[in-house]
Amino acid sequence: MAGLIRIGIVGCGRIAERNHIPGYLGQEGCVITALCDVRTDRMEERITQFPELKGAACFEKDADLFASGLVDAVSVCTPNDCHHPQTLAACQAGLHVHCEKPMAATLEHATEMIEAARKAGVVLQINQSFRFNAQYRTVVELVKEGAIGTPFHVRCIRAGNGTPNKGWSPGADWFVQKKHNGGLLLDIGIHMADLLRMIMGDAEKVAGLVDTRLPDIDVPDNVRALFRFRNGGTGVLELSWTLPGGAGFLEVYGTGGRIRVGFDENPIQLWQAGKPEGEALTYPDPKPRENSQGVFLKAVRGEAPTLTPGEYGRRALALCLAILESSDTGVFASVPHFDGEDRC
Ligand SMILES: NC(=O)c1ccc[n+]([C@@H]2O[C@H](COP(=O)([O-])OP(=O)(O)OC[C@H]3O[C@@H](n4cnc5c(N)ncnc54)[C@H](O)[C@@H]3O)[C@@H](O)[C@H]2O)c1
Repeated sequence: MAGLIRIGIVGCGRIAERNHIPGYLGQEGCVITALCDVRTDRMEERITQFPELKGAACFEKDADLFASGLVDAVSVCTPNDCHHPQTLAACQAGLHVHCEKPMAATLEHATEMIEAARKAGVVLQINQSFRFNAQYRTVVELVKEGAIGTPFHVRCIRAGNGTPNKGWSPGADWFVQKKHNGGLLLDIGIHMADLLRMIMGDAEKVAGLVDTRLPDIDVPDNVRALFRFRNGGTGVLELSWTLPGGAGFLEVYGTGGRIRVGFDENPIQLWQAGKPEGEALTYPDPKPRENSQGVFLKAVRGEAPTLTPGEYGRRALALCLAILESSDTGVFASVPHFDGEDRC
């Protein structure tokens, strides 16, 4: 594709403000030509905040944006239940799609999205944004380089004491509503599922305990899971929106050492067999253009495949759904395996 890639932002809430809009504005070769939100005040806020958006067309209906001829690609930044219908409609309009996580709430919907993009010949990238995080990437590289031998166990806790509709995006109550596919599992769980896959590969089976402790919501707010990975390794994951004080760390144990990181803390701690003391490794600052928007634009231009295709979003979803299934049935659930796709 020659010339500037014209981008439309569908849903102008918090993630559009914090990630997608600044992410595209920092890239060369693209321009945001259109915004869409059911709330006009949201679009006005973003235009005030980012002067570069001044000439952008504003649409209250997604279908009008998709049919406008003003965009080549869209970022879908709406509540979770909108991702499937909006991605299908955008693909049918011949637009490339950068869709927020979770791509869908069922594997059937995820598959329909992958097939719609394939049929239309457009890029479908899911914003499994941990793949672009310098800390997690460094951990994964250390593991892959063999810094701790063969990894056989991973422990991970990611917990806070609040729901996203109170802290991250005040008033966004869809985050805690089942009818909008909200809940901790599809919010943070989908990121952690992808991170575990980056480190250990696909899981074979999982035992899950999923609870709703807050009295006024109808979605999971606490998740515990125990994994058997296809590589023979094991894992434990704990997630919470109700943990006083919060907690967040990742530990990977291998036959030749151990890695420990506090989430968003620098450095990473590395212990290697045969060395007396642990080593503190500082991970590099992320390179500004190597974010999900940069990777998406490269894929749209045909320069490199996306790092986070629909297939990865579907695999992370499969793991989350298996946790839920096990919690419902009380026994281990098998994690569906998708043949013909590479390891991560
Ligand atoms: N990748 C990440 O790390 C990350 C982080 C936070 C949120 N997210 C994801 O981003 C998405 C949006 O989250 P958010 O925090 O920005 O939520 P938000 O509620 O702040 O913003 C959503 C926006 O979409 C608008 N909207 C609702 N229905 C719409 C429709 N049918 N058409 C157009 N606009 C519509 C709302 O008015 C709102 O402005 C969610 O799927 C969430 O899971 C991803």
